[in-house]
Amino acid sequence: MKSETIVNPGLEGVIAAQTRLSSVDGQAGELIIAGFPVAELAGKATFEETVYLLWHDALPNSEQLTAFQKALASERVLSQVTLDLLAGIAAQKVPVIDALRMAASTLSLRTPNEAATDNAERDAYALVARFPTIVAAYWRLVNGAEPVAPRSDLHHAANFLYMLSGEVPSAERARALETYWNTVSDHGLNASTFTARVIISTQSDMVSAIVGAIGALKGPLHGGAPGPALDMVFEIGDASSAEPYLRAKLARGERLMGFGHRVYKVRDPRAEVLSAAAARLYQRDGDMTLYNRARQVEQTALALLAEFKPEHKLQTNVEFYTALLLHGLGLSKDLFTPTFATGRIAGWTAHGFEQRRLNRLIRPQSVYVGPKDRRWVPRAER
Ligand code: ACO
Repeated sequence: MKSETIVNPGLEGVIAAQTRLSSVDGQAGELIIAGFPVAELAGKATFEETVYLLWHDALPNSEQLTAFQKALASERVLSQVTLDLLAGIAAQKVPVIDALRMAASTLSLRTPNEAATDNAERDAYALVARFPTIVAAYWRLVNGAEPVAPRSDLHHAANFLYMLSGEVPSAERARALETYWNTVSDHGLNASTFTARVIISTQSDMVSAIVGAIGALKGPLHGGAPGPALDMVFEIGDASSAEPYLRAKLARGERLMGFGHRVYKVRDPRAEVLSAAAARLYQRDGDMTLYNRARQVEQTALALLAEFKPEHKLQTNVEFYTALLLHGLGLSKDLFTPTFATGRIAGWTAHGFEQRRLNRLIRPQSVYVGPKDRRWVPRAER
């Protein structure tokens, strides 16, 4: 390979997989999840239905759904090894997303009744079912409370909120979380999903792929943005401060969290779904102050981004309204990225299955730009 070869370090525009899982059209602002426009699916499906849809490329009928819910619910309880690990790391107060990454690794441990062989399906059930239990148990441990055991009679979303607070949530709150999880369940070949597929492509196992995906999701350029996005809204305080605050940030060359996207050059369709879900939630709770302030901050940010970066078409992305919705559900911002992971696990595992079926080792190339004529210098002479 010659050194003048064109290098594409961000892989923009590179198509590295065929998928039936989701389609992201950045120019049209369109997201299709397994055939459904995101706005058609997000507010109607239970999270279990979305996972089933992504795994089986079809919605379940009533019997299939009941069996699937039961199978997932029966996998919720954590092993003693996982619980001991969480208790140990809670003493060091590691961030929740790191605790999830560490604990996710323990899900490849087999019980005495399970075969020790690679079993992607068994791993996928354990990962989807136990992610909420891990996040909720760790959250309580790190805050000095005992974990709340999962309840198999509650749906996935209601059970997560129950394990966090110890109270069964209203149907509306569980619905809001399901809408969020469905919205973020899959999104083309984003960085974390690509990571998972690269790992699977080496014929490694499902748990290893998901542990890698969590690592990729954590960064502020990917799934780590909603916490800082909410901080920004709080720091601004009164909406009249938005203009000077955001202008100063942009003048310092800082990025506005919750804005911009590698693929979307128009408004992220997920922002639309989540802003409507957040509006319903805040309206029901009877206080629209924060929601209205966030909308004003968004409008000001968009005007300033157009002024500072007119050539880049920077628009609101999914993370801005994720922050507002999850805050409205009473979740601390430390839980935002882990809660994203508990939704995106649907897509990660589905991509794992797809990659296994269509596998080809993913192995791009690099251009070497270093010297080639170095001669060894003995240590004493360096
Ligand atoms: N605020 C200010 N400027 C921005 C922003 C932003 N949010 N996003 C991009 N820009 C600017 C960059 O500074 C750059 O300007 P320059 O050419 O004058 O230096 C230009 O727009 C292009 O930026 P890139 O980094 O090349 O764009 P890329 O496609 O790599 O970025 C990204 C996508 C990482 C999401 C970016 O928009 C960003 O950092 N946004 C803020 C973080 C965020 O919200 N992340 C969540 C994304 S959604 C998700 O992953 C689930």
